[in-house]
Amino acid sequence: EEKRRGAFSSRRVFILAAIGSAVGLGNIWRFPYVAYENGGGAFVIPYLVALLTAGVPFLLLDYGIGHKFRGSPPLSFARMRRGAEGLGWWQVGICAVIAIYYAAVLAWAVRYAFFSFTKAWGADPETFFLVDFLQVSDPGVTADPVAGVLVPLVVMWALVIGLLALGVQKGVGATAMVFIPVLVLSFGALVVASLFLPGAGSGLDALFTPSWSALAEPTVWAAAFGQIFFSLSIGFGIMITYASYVHRHTDMPGSGLVVGFSNSGFELLAGIGVFAALGFMAQDSGEAVGEVAGDGGVGLAFIAFPAIINEAPAGALIGVLFFVSLVLAGITSLISITEVVISAVRDKFELGRVAATLLVALPMAIVSVLFLGTTSGLYVLDIVDHFINQFGILLVAVVSMVVVVWGLRALPQLAAHLNDHSSVRIGLWWRALLGVVTPLALAYVLVDAFVTDVQTPYEGYPTWMLAVFGWGSAAAVVVIGFVLARLRWRSATALDGATYD
Ligand code: PHE
Ligand code: NA
Repeated sequence: EEKRRGAFSSRRVFILAAIGSAVGLGNIWRFPYVAYENGGGAFVIPYLVALLTAGVPFLLLDYGIGHKFRGSPPLSFARMRRGAEGLGWWQVGICAVIAIYYAAVLAWAVRYAFFSFTKAWGADPETFFLVDFLQVSDPGVTADPVAGVLVPLVVMWALVIGLLALGVQKGVGATAMVFIPVLVLSFGALVVASLFLPGAGSGLDALFTPSWSALAEPTVWAAAFGQIFFSLSIGFGIMITYASYVHRHTDMPGSGLVVGFSNSGFELLAGIGVFAALGFMAQDSGEAVGEVAGDGGVGLAFIAFPAIINEAPAGALIGVLFFVSLVLAGITSLISITEVVISAVRDKFELGRVAATLLVALPMAIVSVLFLGTTSGLYVLDIVDHFINQFGILLVAVVSMVVVVWGLRALPQLAAHLNDHSSVRIGLWWRALLGVVTPLALAYVLVDAFVTDVQTPYEGYPTWMLAVFGWGSAAAVVVIGFVLARLRWRSATALDGATYD
């Protein structure tokens, strides 16, 4: 069966692929800002608590499910209990939606890597980004293509489709083996260059100065748990899929610790690099660090960084390193989410690698080009990203976790499986955390986000746009997921216990 589905050649390749998925845009443009906004140096405490009480345990749950049941999310859940297959497809749907817009950010970053050489954005990076580069329309949906986005977007999809068609080891695994070391070098060089900028120290002070009172705020704790779930790519199928490609007698808990701490290490590194650069910018412009930091995310990467690149000594070099790092970190993440969809379709319909890749990724690429390669692409991206993160990722994570833990009571057998070849023992603490702490933390973050979004329409977008792209996309993946679960398995023996136990 391993021959048919594909497999990583070694534990090392799996660990690199998992790190490749985890380390993404979230590390570079989300973590530094979230940490800064939520207590600075004091954020270490909720962050570490979230990592150890929820992040790592949940990561091991995903590993356990994928490694024991040896399938994509739909296959793994169906093997656990027939009726649970829909959960797997729901996760697959979320991955498909994320991939569709994630690719667009990478396409922008590719162009910005080239722009860095000549500082093509001129003296006003904000106007350049919104008006000249994205040609942003009034809120709404348009069909006006933006060639500067469309072309790199098509290239990005062609590249990812090509790599995925090569298969689990030669495509997914080999890409991570090459990209992750190069990423560490390019981002490491960026951090060093940023630390030499005048004012770097004040940026680090701004990031790390602890505001201890933040620890009393529930929102700070919610932010820590939210960051950990997003950042580790847990709870929506990626780690289940990758774990299903790992040889049976492999130490999974040990691998999980390596992946978890590598991802956090990269977040810390990103915080240092980004805030050193922001410190320089603040000093240069006479503003406060908080003002130049903006809201993180797209604005940080495509508006604040170009401004830094304009002023910094060796700015072009910093720019190239920064955008190349974004692209490298992003491609391995994009590969991981797209692979979840391919893997699920292969398992269910018994398709060959190349056929499934084309069948899955071509339609995704087309939707991506249609919705994100136009003058309204930024709006679609902003709304879908916000809603699918909250009411996709977080919701499916808490629902599937509660089903597995309390509905199917699967933790004892999963713990036994994980312990079989483990260097660290999965004890009762694991079951206690997953049974109580993690679901409660997730539920809290989710309810908090829900209340906020009901009370204030996100970013003041028109209601119909939020209804269609926001609530609509989050709901559509559930419905489509449970419909797909009703289709028959191509192979009558797919769900047989004998094939995996
Ligand atoms: N974990 C990735 C990050 O921190 C984000 C990601 C989201 C990766 C969705 C894959 C899919 O950036
Ligand atoms: Na991450």
